[in-house]
Amino acid sequence: MPNYAEIHARSRKDPEGFWAEIAQGIDWTRKWDRVLDDSRPVQRWFAGGEMNTCWNAIDRHVAAGHGGRVAVIYDSPVTNTIRSFTYTEMRTRVAAFAGALKAKGVARGDRVIVYMPMIPEALIAMLACARLGAVHSVVFGGFAANELAVRIDDCTPKVIVSASCGIEGAKTLPYKPLLDGAIAIARHKPAACLIFQRPQLACDLVPGRDQDWMEAENAAKPADCVPVLATDPLYILYTSGTTGQPKGVVRDNGGHAVALKYSMSAIYDTAPGEVFWAASDVGWVVGHSYICYGPLLQGCTTLLFEGKPVGTPDAGVYWRIIQQHGVKTLFTAPTAFRAIRKEDPEGALIGKYDLSKFKYLFLAGERCDPPTLEWAMAKLNRPTVDHWWQTETGWAICANPLGLERFPIKPGSPTKPTPGWDIQVLGADGHPLKAGEIGALAGKLPLPPGTFPTLWNAEKRYFDSYLAEYPGYYKTGDAGYIDEDGYVYVMTRVDDVINVAGHRLSTGQMEEVLAGHKDVAECAVIGVADELKGQVPLGFVVLKAGVNRPDAEIVTEIVALVRDKIGPVAAFKQAVIVKRLPKTRSGKILRGTMQKIADSQAFKQPATIDDPAILGEILDSLKPLGYAKAASSQGTL
Ligand code: COA
Ligand code: AMP
Repeated sequence: MPNYAEIHARSRKDPEGFWAEIAQGIDWTRKWDRVLDDSRPVQRWFAGGEMNTCWNAIDRHVAAGHGGRVAVIYDSPVTNTIRSFTYTEMRTRVAAFAGALKAKGVARGDRVIVYMPMIPEALIAMLACARLGAVHSVVFGGFAANELAVRIDDCTPKVIVSASCGIEGAKTLPYKPLLDGAIAIARHKPAACLIFQRPQLACDLVPGRDQDWMEAENAAKPADCVPVLATDPLYILYTSGTTGQPKGVVRDNGGHAVALKYSMSAIYDTAPGEVFWAASDVGWVVGHSYICYGPLLQGCTTLLFEGKPVGTPDAGVYWRIIQQHGVKTLFTAPTAFRAIRKEDPEGALIGKYDLSKFKYLFLAGERCDPPTLEWAMAKLNRPTVDHWWQTETGWAICANPLGLERFPIKPGSPTKPTPGWDIQVLGADGHPLKAGEIGALAGKLPLPPGTFPTLWNAEKRYFDSYLAEYPGYYKTGDAGYIDEDGYVYVMTRVDDVINVAGHRLSTGQMEEVLAGHKDVAECAVIGVADELKGQVPLGFVVLKAGVNRPDAEIVTEIVALVRDKIGPVAAFKQAVIVKRLPKTRSGKILRGTMQKIADSQAFKQPATIDDPAILGEILDSLKPLGYAKAASSQGTL
């Protein structure tokens, strides 16, 4: 058996040979002309090849005689429901719903927005789109109508599929008013909406536009899988960039299927028939890759969990699910473990369950703080793997590849580059740095299959954001270092993206919302450390001259404004009114210094600061909120 070093070296020296072998694991209706076509500036994997992702995820297993195997387990403590779907049952539902979409005019290449809670129909909708060669764009339920409208206008869906409500812990959240509101705001109007009526809260349908999901599904003629080009888009997933306009990350069909199936064995060491649980949401990339596509491409049983790590009903729910469904591999965000540890610091609830089938815990979505990793390892006594990836990359950039070789775990590091990735740490001049030196983390081109070939409707933005700064490299937007043993450490973002409870958010976008308030002259939003969520946003606002209302009133309004424009997921709950913002002499707001002050870290007063006294004002404004407890200046930079 070749070891990791040999496999990784081959993946970089001979990427075409390496991935062509792995691509044998997927059914193709036409073989590719070229494994990697980088003749145009954007790389295209398996160019000329044809296949269908839904076939590979569902039908292929039925055809191979595994139709009776459970494909999806839906466990919803918030509705007291547990249901399983075999591969045959999934094929029946997906083919029927694809027929319903087809009846609404959806064909290969058309976009469909999926705005759904964590119910099996969310997976059915995604797979039905894939079956038709249509392009789905799942929008996370925690976004406001305005955010949904931005996505509707960008990807111009023919149909939107949604449900009457979502259930968040003890709250039932009506989805339909958000959907109707978004369609009212958007310039583009979908031809039709298919709405799944949940018994917890039904909704009204708009005559002529909306149809009841089950009525449409039951009346539909089942649709077959439509072969598409490997390079055709499978989905668009919007993620936060530096402006209010989110980036539409595009995923292709062929490279995605090849890479995800490979990752199930190489990284997760999880075989067909085993139970894989990604406790995330279908609205995020983790949900796309490892609730939906990865486990199904591998012929595993995937678990769809509608609940929270705590409070539904308690911090033992993960262990109850692992026992009840025989989960082998759990994948979640460190924030979930921080939430569990807070409620059950000794891990007493863990001991109440039989976890004999549980082999591995994987964590990602945000930097994994070593105490959280160490707590999980100590309490679970199982390999706990921090792995690093992004919406853009679709699967892990760095991981401890348990199916290839097991490396000793170093808390704070997501271990080593996965096959296909050559990660370098680059200095300001774009040259690779030495071991231990901190710089920009960049991936040498070509990127492996499964990564994003472009941004939807924004090819120039793709180049400008990711490829322009370091020619020949993909700029990840993260900074860190590589140690003497080749372990990669991801320390921080280099842009204004923050990570709140594993959710990626843009402070720039929040600033745009704050700036839209009638009384706000200037503002800044930073991410400050939070024990549970890792980071939370904090706003600083300078009011227009002459505004004479109580600060608390204005803060309440801007908090409500962010919730209304971006959504509850932004978790924007605090802001302070200040007289001025600290800036350099050229007018750049010193967000990094403000963040250090808020987090009570030692900071250096930038030599270019316009007026050092402002830092003292910022410090004073933060103390009432419990921040900046011990911040101290360490001289001038
Ligand atoms: N639909 C509607 N609203 C949603 C939502 C959804 N799908 N998801 C979250 N929200 C709302 C929440 O109800 C909350 O609203 P509130 O301000 O009215 O309380 C708000 O958005 C913020 O949500 P969140 O940051 O998730 O905080 P929380 O307190 O509800 O839960 C955790 C905190 C840690 C328990 C939760 O974030 C969690 O389970 N995270 C780990 C798993 C995960 O999802 N990772 C994602 C990427 S891998
Ligand atoms: P998203 O696109 O939402 O998956 O967020 C991607 C970002 O989350 C990355 O660019 C990192 O900043 C952060 N991230 C994800 N996983 C890790 C990890 N294991 N360690 C450190 N940061 C991570």
